[in-house]
Amino acid sequence: MEITVTLENIEQHARYFWEHVPGRVFAFHGAMGAGKTTFIKALCAARGVTDHVSSPTFSLINEYRYNEGGLLKHIFHIDLYRLKDEEEAISAGIEDCLYSGNVCFVEWPQKAASLLPESRVDIYVHPVNNNTRLLKIDFHR
Ligand SMILES: Nc1ncnc2c1ncn2[C@@H]1O[C@H](COP(=O)(O)OP(=O)(O)OP(=O)(O)O)[C@@H](O)[C@H]1O
Ligand SMILES: [Mg+2]
Repeated sequence: MEITVTLENIEQHARYFWEHVPGRVFAFHGAMGAGKTTFIKALCAARGVTDHVSSPTFSLINEYRYNEGGLLKHIFHIDLYRLKDEEEAISAGIEDCLYSGNVCFVEWPQKAASLLPESRVDIYVHPVNNNTRLLKIDFHR
């Protein structure tokens, strides 16, 4: 599936994404500044997250909360950009998050490719121009 996202239509696309893309672990590929965090923020907002969403800076993992049918749920936002090696990912608890059953967003997934579950959704973010991004979404089911 492909979607063309601008900052004006990003909320609609985030709602469309949750309606049409089945999955729990979402790996976001794309260069620096491509728009990975920006779309993750929109996906979190569409899911009802009110916590501040931004790339984890002091750790590799941020945790956000949202409500679903009266239940408190968690989303993990993992940014592997600064990861040195897969051992660091393991000691940081990345695998625990990925296999926890919670929704996980992963930026720079190629830094710990072997830790990612095979049943994940890969999203490739391509800048088209200053305010447009093409998202190519690959489901593995
Ligand atoms: N349609 C769009 N979708 C996403 N970001 C956009 C779009 N149009 C413009 N932008 C801008 O592009 C920048 C994307 O930054 P963002 O932090 O989301 O990138 P990133 O891929 O997470 O980078 P990094 O690898 O450094 O984490 C932001 O300044 C954002 O406002
Ligand atoms: Mg980012």
